[in-house]
Amino acid sequence: MSFAVLFSLALSILHRLTSLVPTPDRNEPVAAAWYTGWHASGTNAFPLSAVSWDKYNTLIYSFAITTPSVNDLSLNGSDPPLLHHFVSKARAHGVAAHVAIGGWGGGLWFSPNVATPENRTAFVKTVAKFAKKHKLNGINFDWEFPNKQGIGCNAISANDTQNFLSFLQELRAKVGPKLTLSAAVSIVPFNNVSGHPSKDLSGFAKVLDYIAIMDYDVWGGWSSAVGPNAPLNDTCATHANQVGSAVSAIKAWTAAGIPVNQIVLGVPSYGHSFSVPPPNAFINGSEIELAAYPKFNASNQPLGNAWDDSSSVDACGILQGPGGTFNLWGLVDGGFLTTEGNPAPGIYYRYDTCSQTPYVYNETSQVMVSFDNARSFAAKGSYIRETGLRGFAMWEAGGDYNNILLDSIRTAAGFGGY
Ligand SMILES: *[C@@H]1O[C@H](CO)[C@@H](O)[C@H](O)[C@H]1NC(C)=O
Ligand SMILES: *[C@@H]1O[C@H](CO)[C@@H](O)[C@H](O)[C@H]1NC(C)=O
Ligand SMILES: *[C@@H]1O[C@H](CO)[C@@H](O)[C@H](O)[C@H]1NC(C)=O
Ligand SMILES: *[C@@H]1O[C@H](CO)[C@@H](O)[C@H](O)[C@H]1NC(C)=O
Ligand SMILES: *[C@@H]1O[C@H](CO)[C@@H](O)[C@H](O)[C@H]1NC(C)=O
Ligand SMILES: *[C@@H]1O[C@H](CO)[C@@H](O)[C@H](O)[C@H]1NC(C)=O
Ligand SMILES: *[C@@H]1O[C@H](CO)[C@@H](O)[C@H](O)[C@H]1NC(C)=O
Ligand SMILES: *[C@@H]1O[C@H](CO)[C@@H](O)[C@H](O)[C@H]1NC(C)=O
Repeated sequence: MSFAVLFSLALSILHRLTSLVPTPDRNEPVAAAWYTGWHASGTNAFPLSAVSWDKYNTLIYSFAITTPSVNDLSLNGSDPPLLHHFVSKARAHGVAAHVAIGGWGGGLWFSPNVATPENRTAFVKTVAKFAKKHKLNGINFDWEFPNKQGIGCNAISANDTQNFLSFLQELRAKVGPKLTLSAAVSIVPFNNVSGHPSKDLSGFAKVLDYIAIMDYDVWGGWSSAVGPNAPLNDTCATHANQVGSAVSAIKAWTAAGIPVNQIVLGVPSYGHSFSVPPPNAFINGSEIELAAYPKFNASNQPLGNAWDDSSSVDACGILQGPGGTFNLWGLVDGGFLTTEGNPAPGIYYRYDTCSQTPYVYNETSQVMVSFDNARSFAAKGSYIRETGLRGFAMWEAGGDYNNILLDSIRTAAGFGGY
């Protein structure tokens, strides 16, 4: 073989290798999920080998958490050594490897980290260094929430949203266009200085590739009644039940200046459980049809599936009871659904055509669960396609059962041939 042939062969191999590394395309649709390091081992583990890599183009390792020092991020609680393997696996599958910074319990220190020009510069350095060290393709900021109380002890400042933007502008200037920057956001736009949803967040669209709207936990154990965890729509609900939805969120965020093609819909592979006595659960106590928005017994939160704990201490040091979360696999495990994802014999089922979400009810245990299934994920996928959203991001990859949810939303959103 001549040198020239060898050389061109080497070049073409090099080209094929580098083309496996996803190059960010500002308009590439997003088929993503968060991967949680703390579920990689232990009960009902979801190891890296269980991820359906070929059905995603982005996986987001969770979480790197903020710390009291602007110079540090921590992977504590999220299996730090696993991140390296996660990135290698993603790379081998041509999937972009991102890390989410923050989360419900991990964003306590965002506010001070971006509060002053000095801290912003330091935090930009911290994040850029972290991304480089771990060879990441993207960072997903999961600040819950700027100028708004989330878990109960996250630092807050009136200037959070403006400071966040200044920080992102500086970060983008430092890392350039190649690192994908995104934010996981609530269904309402970031608060302004007076604590109301901001009217103009168009600056964020210039520095972020996209936002992922977390359209879940809209109703749960803290609500006044059993409602949809992840409503697609709520304008069709009664006024009292218009708490928010994908439809209301897209309306609010686009009105605040984020284009639809920079919005990814966050979708859940889990539902919330409630204790509902039979007289509340059925219309007219009939044992025929499940009632909409029934009252539940808030002092009797059911335990969710094997990933739930009957008690735990949160990031604020507060003792918490069960979360009551059922992943799709947990609903199968718990006897609510068959392995095909259909209601099991003896389980009552309701599909709410406004929120486009299902409910199951076990009359014996008096447990009702508001969740998502293949039908509701198909509705969400169609909405993504029809509205021109950028794609979907599922919390969390390990919650699905036999890809029932993932296959449904991919097909409906138009990722079928991906
Ligand atoms: C990690 O977090 C646990 C509590 O979740 C804490 O006890 C421990 O000290 C932390 N370790 C480090 C190195 O921060
Ligand atoms: C800046 O960061 C340092 C170190 O993390 C922190 O102690 C300080 O409070 C921050 N400044 C502000 C104004 O929040
Ligand atoms: C918010 O920013 C303004 C000016 O940009 C400043 O005057 C004010 O002190 C800041 N407020 C807080 C709470 O940091
Ligand atoms: C914050 O938003 C509220 C509601 O939209 C608005 O009335 C208020 O003027 C805004 N505050 C500032 C300082 O922009
Ligand atoms: C939401 O409900 C309204 C009726 O209130 C309807 O016009 C609209 O098409 C629905 N949107 C979706 C995406 O279901
Ligand atoms: C429940 O009872 C009301 C009043 O008796 C009746 O109008 C309604 O049709 C009943 N609904 C069902 C589903 O049986
Ligand atoms: C609610 O649950 C608590 C705790 O299990 C129980 O003591 C109470 O009787 C229940 N209330 C109703 C109205 O069922
Ligand atoms: C309903 O719950 C009871 C009590 O936990 C359990 O024994 C039963 O198997 C469940 N029913 C179905 C159909 O799964």
